[in-house]
Amino acid sequence: MVHAEASTFASGLTKKNVYAQVLEHSRGLFDGQRNWVCNLSNASSLLYHALHSLPSPSSAVNWCGFYVLDPTTQSQLLLGPFQGHVACQTIGFGRGVCGTAAATQTTQLVKDVEAFPGHIACDGASKSEIVVPIIQGGKVVAIIDIDCAELDGFDEDDKDALETIAALLAESCDF
Ligand code: SME
Repeated sequence: MVHAEASTFASGLTKKNVYAQVLEHSRGLFDGQRNWVCNLSNASSLLYHALHSLPSPSSAVNWCGFYVLDPTTQSQLLLGPFQGHVACQTIGFGRGVCGTAAATQTTQLVKDVEAFPGHIACDGASKSEIVVPIIQGGKVVAIIDIDCAELDGFDEDDKDALETIAALLAESCDF
C-alpha cells in the first residue's frame, strides 16, 4: 500500500472502528521509526482524516495536532506537528486547556471552551476541545490537542481511544 492510503478512511464506519484503524496504521508507520517529529506528523494526519470520515460533530474537527515539552525551559509547551490553521507557538504549564492537561497529567474533555477558565483561543472557530497528555517515564513529553467547531464535539470514546494512542506514542517515540 502507498503511504497516503493509510489516511483514507471509508465512510460509514463507527467511531470505535475508525480509531481501531488509526491504531493499526500508527503501529505500522511507527515500526522502525522512533523520531517524534516523524511519528507525530503522521499521527496528526491519521487522526484528522479519521475524524473527518465520521459524521458530525467529529467531522467538524478544525485543528488536530500536538504540543511538545520545550526542551530549553522544561516548563512550557511548544507547537508541534498539526493539521489546521496557524496556532499559538508556546503555552505555559498550567495555562489554557493544553497547559492544564500538561500540569495535571490528566485528559481535559471540554464540551464548551467558553466555559473553561483561561481557555486560549488560537482559532476562533473552536467550540469544544480534548487534550490528552503523553507521559513517558512519569513526565509529560507532549500533548494531543484536538479542537472541534461544534459544541460537545468529544465523548468518552474519544477519550479512551486518544489515551490509547497517547500510550502508543509514548512507547514508540524518542522525545
Ligand atoms: N485552546 C488551547 C490552545 C491551543 S489551540 O487550541 C491549537 C488551550 O486552551 O490550551
